[in-house]
Parts: sequence; structure tokens; C-alpha cells
Amino acid sequence: MPRPSNAGRSPGETGSDGLSARKGRRRRSVAVVGSIALGGVVAMSYQMASGAPAVSTPAVSINPVTAQVAVSGTAAQRKLSPKAANQKLLDDGKRYFRRSTFGDQKFWGGTLDLDRAIEGAANGGVGPGLSPAAALGAGLKVDVKALPKRLKKALAKGKVNLNSPATTLALLKLDSVVGVKGYFNKSGNLTTVGIRCALCHSTVDNSFAPGIGKRLDGWANRDLNVGAIIGMAPNLQPIADLLHTDVKTVKAVLDTWGPGEFDAQLLMDGKALRPDGGAASTLIPPAFGMLGVNQSTSTGWGSVTYWNAFVANLEMHGEGTFNDPRLDDADQFPIAAENGFGHTKAKVDRITPKLAALQAYQLSLAAPKPPKRSFNKAAAKRGKALFGGQAACSTCHVPPLFTEPGFNMHKGEEIGIDNFQADRSPTHMYRTAPLAGLWTHKKGGFYHDGRFASLNDVVKHYDTTFGLHLTEAQQKDLVQYLLSL
Ligand code: HEC
Ligand code: HEC
Repeated sequence: MPRPSNAGRSPGETGSDGLSARKGRRRRSVAVVGSIALGGVVAMSYQMASGAPAVSTPAVSINPVTAQVAVSGTAAQRKLSPKAANQKLLDDGKRYFRRSTFGDQKFWGGTLDLDRAIEGAANGGVGPGLSPAAALGAGLKVDVKALPKRLKKALAKGKVNLNSPATTLALLKLDSVVGVKGYFNKSGNLTTVGIRCALCHSTVDNSFAPGIGKRLDGWANRDLNVGAIIGMAPNLQPIADLLHTDVKTVKAVLDTWGPGEFDAQLLMDGKALRPDGGAASTLIPPAFGMLGVNQSTSTGWGSVTYWNAFVANLEMHGEGTFNDPRLDDADQFPIAAENGFGHTKAKVDRITPKLAALQAYQLSLAAPKPPKRSFNKAAAKRGKALFGGQAACSTCHVPPLFTEPGFNMHKGEEIGIDNFQADRSPTHMYRTAPLAGLWTHKKGGFYHDGRFASLNDVVKHYDTTFGLHLTEAQQKDLVQYLLSL
């Protein structure tokens, strides 16, 4: 099967085997972190961001003792007490969500050479390299907890060169770049790079500086320009080959996505644009607030664990097992059918053993509460009455799940939109979006593709589609209620 992954010249997930796979190349050592406090006026402001959202991840910390127990998922449930097993599932799941690449560095570094674009020619790679300023500009986030004190001081004083790719390499060495894992050899050179779930489904609270702060697991990273990041890769030929097109076209398609968007269906059906010429990508959704929700993804591909397996195997290109004969439908999924994506099986399965814990962790992530005074309480109360009354929103968005218990899928016509994205899913339908935590992802708009720029626009759309005859004031109240969820 001509899967673009598994080119087999990168190290395993945690092992150091193969780390010197690229030793033939000219490289310069990466500056040691302690010494990156070199001059250069920082081109960004470092004042504390005001109104930083409250941290909402559950109080689960990785327990170094239980984390070493070599059992996971159902095995853990059998061996440990229910309480200890649950805690271990959450600990493991958090670790996988934040840290596991599932072996996908064989694709991102090994095949696409993304590591070389990050390094830049000055550090033995190609091109200008990725400076921290450019990385933050593309929406990548830095976990302040991974930064040593000295570095934080230097950053606060503006003494770190944020325009040098060598600084990015130092940040990667500290494993401080959320969702990106750099692998370094003994001489300190970057050998490959992998991605994790946290890349798209985490952000930071900006408590140290814009883009630098404490992790917020499960939050959609609506700043992240996935298309621009993939577009940096020196070798996009494998993707062009898959799609039966050329690299220029691949780059043009990646350019259409923009911040906060990704197209999880592109490598299944090869559909690069909507019929109206717009981008075919969808917004990155939150990975929190899923507990009790039936279908996962905007078009209901499957459950949370279904989708985790799908993404880890087919989007991140980790090494695992994935089964879905629906992808054999060559009319709907020509690319997936041609390449047997519905019957993926890597030699070593680095995904399946992690699915139970990964699911448990995601389901443990509650949608965060909106900050006090971020909405008008009295208006929200009036909006609540409309939601369950005149506006009849709760016929589909049933509180407190805000989606239907049971079958929660609808045809485009039922909500007054086209079926383009629905028809890219085996369900040909849209899932009633759960609404808790809407306030965390206002950027990029609403509905699966962000077609409505604001909640006002969403409510206006429903008012027209369903002939609700809501006054302007009632529409505003409804919006305040949505912001309170
Ligand atoms: C490159 C960005 C990216 C990465 C990496 C990524 N996702 Fe996603 N994720 C998305 C996008 C985009 C969607 C929306 C797909 C859709 O609705 O068609 C999504 C959807 C989801 C959903 C469904 C949410 C809902 O509202 O039902 C879950 C759950 C999820 N991802 C979990 C994960 C996990 C777990 C990982 C790691 C194994 C992961 N994702 C990796 C971009 C990403
Ligand atoms: C017929 C069922 C149905 C009714 C009635 C309905 N919705 Fe929805 N709603 C949906 C579906 C399905 C989606 C997902 C659309 C998509 O992803 O493109 C959605 C999406 C949304 C979203 C966007 C969520 C996001 O994350 O982007 C908001 C906000 C929303 N609805 C609010 C409301 C309000 C307010 C009402 C009442 C005026 C309402 N809905 C009535 C089915 C319904």
C-alpha cells in the first residue's frame, strides 16, 4: 500500500535507535538553552495578558509511580482497584494527549522533512528556518511550565532572540512547544519531528506572554495555521502523489485553509475546494465537553474513540491499526479506497494500546465555565427562556448536553445549509453541535466551517430559516445565553 508514512528512517517513539539516521548532513549544534539569552530587541510585547481564561483542566497530575506500571486501559482496570485504575487511565490519557506522537515522526520528519524546514539552512536544514516569532505567528504555543527560570527571566527582559531558528530548536529541546516533538541526536542536532493531539486541541492561557502560558487541554487552537505549517515541509511530493496532483497545487490548497482550520477529509476524497470555490477545510473543534455526546466530529464519523483512531492513523500518520470498510467506497473516498486506508495495519501498533486512556482523558475534560462578567446575566436568563421556548433551540440542543440524547444527526436542509461537508462523511449528515464552552472558540466563527462569523449571525440564520420572528433584543438575549454555557 503506498501509504506516505513508514518511510522508515526515523527513530521509534521513545527509543533513540536511528537518531543518527541523517548523519551525512552538514549541521551546526543547537545553542544550549542557557546561552540563548543573546541580544536582539524582542519584536513582541510581553506584558501579562489580561482577561486570561481560567484553567479548566481537571486536577489530574501524572503520578510517576503509577505511570510506570506497564498496564493500560482494560488491563489496568483488571489489575488495579477501580479508583486506581480510573486515575491511571486519566494520567496515561493526559500523557498520550499531550506527548504521544504515535510514531508519526516517520511521516512529518522522515517523509516530509519538516524538521529540516524548522532548522533552516544555518542549522543544517533548508530555507530560512522557523523562528520563534514566526512559530508564534503561525499559532504554535509554548508551555511556560517547560521553561527553566533563567530562560523565563531572559524572555521577560526581551533578551532572547525570537528571530533565530536556533532558539526554536532550543525550545523544542525543552519540549516546550505544545503539540510538537523534536527528536535530537547525541550531538544535539534535530533529526526528526512529530506532532501530537495537543497541537490542534490545546492552547495556552497567555499568562506569560501572548502564545506563552499554561496549557489548556482540549481547547481548540484557532490561531494555528496548520496549512502554513504543513506547507513549510520541503517534501510535499508524497502528498501530491496521493492526491494525483503536483506540489504547487498541494501548496495552493494548504493556503486556502487559514488559521484554526484543517481538512481531515482531504486525504480520503481528494476534494480540495467547495463547489463555490471556497476552502473545503473545517474548524478545529474543542476536544472537551464530549462526555455524554453521541457522535463525534461535525459530520458524525463515529464516537470519540473511533475518531481518535482515525486521526492518529490517517491524519497524523502514526503507526497503528485502523479499520473502516466505509472507506472502501471508491466513489465517495477515491483516495482512501485506492490506498486501503480503511484497512491500515502498521508492523508495530503504537496507537491501539493508547485508545482507552486517550478516550478516558478526553471524556474527563469538561467544557470550561465562562469567566464572570463575560456575559450579561439578566439577558442570559431571558435568552434561556427563549432557547427552550419561542426559539425552540432545545428541541435539538437538549440541555445539559446541548445535543440530542440518542441520534443527533441532521440533513443540511433541516438547519438551512448545504450538504457539501456532510456528503464527505459516511453519514451524509451534520451532528447537533454541543454548545458548552462556545465562548472559548469564538475566533474563526461558528458551524463546522466557520460560515457564521459571530453568534449573532448564527441566531439570525435560525431566525430566518425557522421563521422564528425574534426581535433584535430577543436575538441579543439568546446570544448572551449562548455565551453563558
Ligand atoms: C492537525 C490538527 C489536528 C490534530 C493533530 C488532531 N485533530 Fe482532532 N480534530 C481536528 C479537526 C479539524 C477536527 C474536526 C473534524 C470535522 O469535524 O470534520 C477534529 C475533531 C476532533 C474530535 C471531534 C470533536 C467533536 O466536536 O466531536 C475529537 C474528539 C478529536 N479531534 C480528538 C483528537 C485527538 C485525540 C487527536 C490526537 C490523536 C487529534 N484530535 C488530533 C484537528 C486535529
Ligand atoms: C434541527 C436541529 C437544530 C435546531 C432546532 C437548532 N440547532 Fe443549532 N445546530 C444544529 C446542528 C446540526 C448544528 C451543527 C451545524 C454545523 O456544524 O455546521 C448546530 C450548530 C449550532 C451552533 C454552532 C456551534 C459551533 O460550535 O459552531 C450554535 C451556536 C447553535 N447551533 C445554536 C442554536 C440556537 C441558538 C438554536 C435556536 C435558535 C438552534 N441552534 C437550533 C442543530 C439545530
